[in-house]
Amino acid sequence: MTDSVATAPAVEQRTSTPAAIQEILVLDYGGQYSQLIARRIRDCGVFSELLPHHVALEQIAARKPCGIILSGGPASVYADGAPPLERGLLELGVPILGICYGMQLLVHELGGRVKEAQVGEFGRSELHVTEPGVLLAGLPREQICWMSHRDTVFEPPPGFTALASSSGSPVAAVEDAQRHIYGIQFHPEVVHTPYGGEILTHFLTDVCECERTWSAASIVDEQIRRIREQVGDGNVICGLSGGVDSSVAALIVYRAVGEQLTCVFVDHGLMRKDEGEQVVSMFRDTFKVPLVAVDAEARFLEKLKGVTDPEAKRKAIGAEFIRVFEEEAAKLGEAKGGPGADGVRFLVQGTLYSDVIESGGGTGAATIKSHHNVGGLPDDLQFELVEPLRALFKDEVRAVGAELGLPERLVWRQPFPGPGLAIRIVGGEATKERLDLLREADHILLQEIRRAGLYRELWQSFCVLPDVRTVGVQGDERTYGYVVVVRAVTSDDAMTADWARLPYDLLETIAARMINELRDVNRVVLDITSKPPGTIEWE
Ligand code: XMP
Repeated sequence: MTDSVATAPAVEQRTSTPAAIQEILVLDYGGQYSQLIARRIRDCGVFSELLPHHVALEQIAARKPCGIILSGGPASVYADGAPPLERGLLELGVPILGICYGMQLLVHELGGRVKEAQVGEFGRSELHVTEPGVLLAGLPREQICWMSHRDTVFEPPPGFTALASSSGSPVAAVEDAQRHIYGIQFHPEVVHTPYGGEILTHFLTDVCECERTWSAASIVDEQIRRIREQVGDGNVICGLSGGVDSSVAALIVYRAVGEQLTCVFVDHGLMRKDEGEQVVSMFRDTFKVPLVAVDAEARFLEKLKGVTDPEAKRKAIGAEFIRVFEEEAAKLGEAKGGPGADGVRFLVQGTLYSDVIESGGGTGAATIKSHHNVGGLPDDLQFELVEPLRALFKDEVRAVGAELGLPERLVWRQPFPGPGLAIRIVGGEATKERLDLLREADHILLQEIRRAGLYRELWQSFCVLPDVRTVGVQGDERTYGYVVVVRAVTSDDAMTADWARLPYDLLETIAARMINELRDVNRVVLDITSKPPGTIEWE
């Protein structure tokens, strides 16, 4: 890969999967798609984790993986400081598959020839299979694959068979079935390699002999067992936001320890319409989870008085959130028989596997994270963390949520920022009047998007209310009203996003409803900026 900087997770952040689960370890050499390799393997029904390429050999050996994958990466095997191959990996007797840089490393180390090619090979390529071997067995001789490399393998190492070539790669796949070492120059994990799933499956089943029994839902029982073990008869608190992560985490913990869990839902008055009531009624009435709902709207509005700077808003909201949560934790601690929070030792957090990976490095990722921490809790709270989603990707969390009986509306809820609607009132103060107006506009937008069947296709769809008024004319009268901005984006991970091409008729309905139903709105505009250069939110 000639892509981004390494985002290798710190070793201690591994999710400590029980040895009983068959797993494939992906060693990350810094490729942009390294995470995706682990996801694809899980899609094939085998648990997989990403570890930094420099993780100690003993740690790898102790986990007894069924197979090891060496990812792509931006380096050249000849570059100074290029991440090396730990030769001991080859002695473990565990099958190895190198992808892109991972293949070049293997070939270089084992005596084959890797050289910088005159021209790089980026994007779609035609692969010609000359000798299918195990990896490409039963697949078409001519197929499309996705490449991203400059260095190229010109000769396989002794004992290896060359399986395929492409216009830019004389040797695009190799294998030594005796030693169980395999390599492919292209990326089987991306959708642009149509047979990528089959190739990975061959590696998993025919080479590593894995049973394909893993699913996100299958880890629920395991998590329940572990939570019981961790928590014993201790009390647990969970901050519910109404989002899918905290909801799923809370439900798993409730399944594990029942009423030892209390959820705290802080309604800061910055939620979308009816959202607070929905969260409370679902958890308290439907799932019967002990829940403290705090109506803190007035407190938050007071803190937001006169605040117009976006970061100052975030800080004010974050700080107040912590204050409210701490107060509730202290009350609960006392009610549960200990002084302060001592009566409640554990705190549930909906940390996801992508957070675990992200917090291991990568400057871009780190910036995004600091965003998300707003409304989160500080490190010095005296709780032990319970993190039941630490091994899961977002889509797996949704699958678990569905399995646990969360309603579809919640399972598929679009992301919503911790500071809520306050950061969508742009250039001005988040007053009650403006928040109410924005809430209504947002409600109309979402109703129409849902009605058009587009809600799930969009990463996020919401309204922004700039502190700007424009002139209009309504019913023979001149008006001076607010402008509502419609923002709808498609995205996979919020790192990049494109503005959604909403149908004109839908846009017309939305604008007409907002102007007719909301007295203070006389203009609706559409944001057609992608990210980059824009961001998804306006503040
Ligand atoms: P941007 O605007 O940076 O947003 O493109 C990327 C994603 O992050 C969300 N976001 C936030 N989430 N607190 C949050 O919890 C925040 O302060 C915050 N700011 C942005 C945003 O909604 C999008 O999903």
